[in-house]
Amino acid sequence: MSKSLVNKYNVAGPRYTSYPTVPYWDENTFSLDNWKMSVKKSFDESNTIDGLSLYIHLPFCESLCTFCGCHKRITKRHEVESPYITALLKEWDLYCELFVDKPVIKEIHLGGGTPTFFEPQNLKLLIDGILAKSDLAKDYEFSFEGHPNNTTVEHLQTFYDLGFRRVSFGVQDYNITVQKAINRIQPFENVERVTKQSREIGYTSISHDIIFGLPFQTEEHVIETIAKTKALLPDRIAFYSYAHVPWIKGTGQRGYDESNLPTPEIKRKQYEHGKLELAKAGYHEIGMDHFGLKSDSLYEAMETGKLHRNFMGYTASKTQLMIGLGVSSIGDSWYGFGQNIKDIKTYYKALDEDCIPVYRGHILNDEDLKIRQHILNIMCKFKTSWGEDDFFFTTLGGVLPKLEEFKTDGLIEVEDGVLLVTEKGRPFVRNVCMAFDVLLQAKKPNTQLFSMTI
Ligand SMILES: C[S@@+](CC[C@H](N)C(=O)[O-])C[C@H]1O[C@@H](n2cnc3c(N)ncnc32)[C@H](O)[C@@H]1O
Ligand code: SF4
Repeated sequence: MSKSLVNKYNVAGPRYTSYPTVPYWDENTFSLDNWKMSVKKSFDESNTIDGLSLYIHLPFCESLCTFCGCHKRITKRHEVESPYITALLKEWDLYCELFVDKPVIKEIHLGGGTPTFFEPQNLKLLIDGILAKSDLAKDYEFSFEGHPNNTTVEHLQTFYDLGFRRVSFGVQDYNITVQKAINRIQPFENVERVTKQSREIGYTSISHDIIFGLPFQTEEHVIETIAKTKALLPDRIAFYSYAHVPWIKGTGQRGYDESNLPTPEIKRKQYEHGKLELAKAGYHEIGMDHFGLKSDSLYEAMETGKLHRNFMGYTASKTQLMIGLGVSSIGDSWYGFGQNIKDIKTYYKALDEDCIPVYRGHILNDEDLKIRQHILNIMCKFKTSWGEDDFFFTTLGGVLPKLEEFKTDGLIEVEDGVLLVTEKGRPFVRNVCMAFDVLLQAKKPNTQLFSMTI
């Protein structure tokens, strides 16, 4: 990839886990009642067809990794577990009151923070409590994020017995200088142990998160981390670009200087070289920043056009309705987004008052829905089209001229209303989506809201 292309397209841009992106939500047209109405509508349309997904946010971590951009609360006090589980179950009850039938659960994903901060018996209470009020879809998929330093064999067995078959472990980088800089000392042996134990227990999809672009990280560190990862042969690898977003409250991304970060060109080389190494080991690139073996469901989803993207990242199937439980979680009814209160005390207070703790969101209009579909197509299939009426939107005329430069640079091909992102263009997929993001185009932010695209 040429240096000039990297420099030209390395701008601040969304990762498009939603459209409109969070900073562009129109809070004037949003209300809790609108959100509930959109959830009910989506439930009625989809519960018996697709079922619904649940994202449950478990925010506690015992120590702060200074690179982390997730919403978390650092504590060693495990007394926080029980009240939090009680609150999650209360929140689920409030949603169940909205539904006319028993919900059919297709997916549960436990994210964080650190789900494995919780004792296995508390996690069992949570899942049993959720399932007591629900039916299961035939091909349900349960997954969780495990921290290799504190995932025990009891965690793995408890989750397995509850029906979980997919687990992802945060690896980031194995080099000790990088690990010290990000305050996350995590020997290879810990990752090896949890990976092998998961496999022995019977998990069918084991995933590792690796990051490039971390402070003090060199190309060699990335390659070495990939070599060690390959030795454990996870089914799936998330190869994330480090998102530097120190302005977001609570990230704690202040323990190192920006001068300690690799330059955009080095970061790009880390990615390119890493991708090559992954390909040699049989990993296929899936959408943006994910790789999978041919046997993994994400690869199959890509091949069959079923790949979907939501706030959890890429998923192998789409449900129209995703409910988010827990502080900061975002729910998606397809017609709207609703985000929960981030502060734990305020979240508890809303639940004590029998109120669904959503504090902001966005209700999509027809134009938003069409653009949302185009951006999803580009992110998941590297292709979209607007020839048919269903996919035509009124502001398309403003988008087309913005595509010209991508065409000239060989990043996309456009013919007869069909846009195709080329191989060369794939690293710039976020930039291509930005051309469709009419809200971003209409109001460019004065301050940086998003991480850099490269
Ligand atoms: C909630 S954490 C995973 C579970 C557990 N807390 C752990 O750290 O192992 C989810 C993943 O998000 C990714 N992540 C967090 N902050 C990031 C950032 N600033 N840029 C890119 N990826 C990030 C990391 O790869 C991390 O493993
Ligand atoms: S990377 Fe994981 S363990 Fe570290 S602070 Fe973030 S959520 Fe917590």
